[in-house]
Amino acid sequence: MKLVERLKEKARRARKRIVLPEGDEARTAKAAEIVRGEGIADPVLLTASSIAEDRAKLASYAEALYELRKAKGLSQEKALELVSDPMYYGMMMVKAGEADGLVSGAVHSTGDMLRPALQVIRTAPGMKLVSSSFLMECPNESLGENGLIVYADCVVNPCPDAEGLANIAVAAAETARKLCDIAEPRVAMLSFSTKGSASHELVEKVRSAVEIAHGLAPDLLLDGELQFDAALVPSVAALKAPGSKVAGRANVLVFPDLQAGNIGYKITQRIGGAECFAVLQGLAKPCNDLSRGCSVEDIVNTIAATAVQA
Ligand code: ACO
Repeated sequence: MKLVERLKEKARRARKRIVLPEGDEARTAKAAEIVRGEGIADPVLLTASSIAEDRAKLASYAEALYELRKAKGLSQEKALELVSDPMYYGMMMVKAGEADGLVSGAVHSTGDMLRPALQVIRTAPGMKLVSSSFLMECPNESLGENGLIVYADCVVNPCPDAEGLANIAVAAAETARKLCDIAEPRVAMLSFSTKGSASHELVEKVRSAVEIAHGLAPDLLLDGELQFDAALVPSVAALKAPGSKVAGRANVLVFPDLQAGNIGYKITQRIGGAECFAVLQGLAKPCNDLSRGCSVEDIVNTIAATAVQA
């Protein structure tokens, strides 16, 4: 069964309440109709006019947001203005446990969706960083886990340091387990160098990240620094990284920064013909971003993944 079908199946069993703050956007409204009809989730569509009617709730969310952000200089007036925006209102619903997760981004840019999530939902206990994984289903089933490969981080952190990269690696392995049913994540920390073939401060950063990640998750199969081909192709791995338990058979790829990750997933999608969608990891409650070019099907799939995360 394809990944999205497995996710929909799991979501049906969980039947979670997922809030959609872009309720007056046509693709989002259609996706809501489909997920309700197919029993994938109970969607809650928000619009600026629908939330304006509930003044008591607005006042209570404004007070809660003010308490959360007053140390950062947020005034009570500004808090009320923010929660009148469906994005913040939706985040407050999730924070209060009145919804299990949130999906947005058909209209808003990634930054405009991420900032409220980072400010209101914040990181899960024990997590230092919010990041993302792209779940890539490649036509070549000899790669990764029967063609399924997790790419991180292609959405959130522009320039993670070594500690950040190590955190992203551990979180992506967890996403591979939970969402992709990959029992044994094998994580490659990518670089333009394989095992010392080049020396540069950028390579050093990846090497440090490998050491930190081993400390964070000693049982995780993780290796680096590895080039993309050494990570995925057994014959290249045999030459460049003999003896590695990850090289040549990686199913989780951690890119050294957002430029590499974002470009890498788009090449895999557009030239490699992979089907893909992204989830955020490390948030205390699941909130996921869409591409503004998304289809109705993309929104349905992301709602299903969000329900499974919840
Ligand atoms: N994890 C946890 N918390 C974070 C993270 C993170 N990765 N990044 C920022 N924060 C926190 C900050 O510490 C801050 O907390 P505080 O206000 O309580 O002190 C809060 O989140 C907001 O941070 P800001 O400084 O206001 O926001 P910032 O300018 O750092 O922006 C953002 C964060 C939006 C994630 C930024 O890094 C960004 O724009 N990233 C790239 C997004 C993007 O354009 N991606 C590519 C396109 S997506 C695609 O192609 C699919």
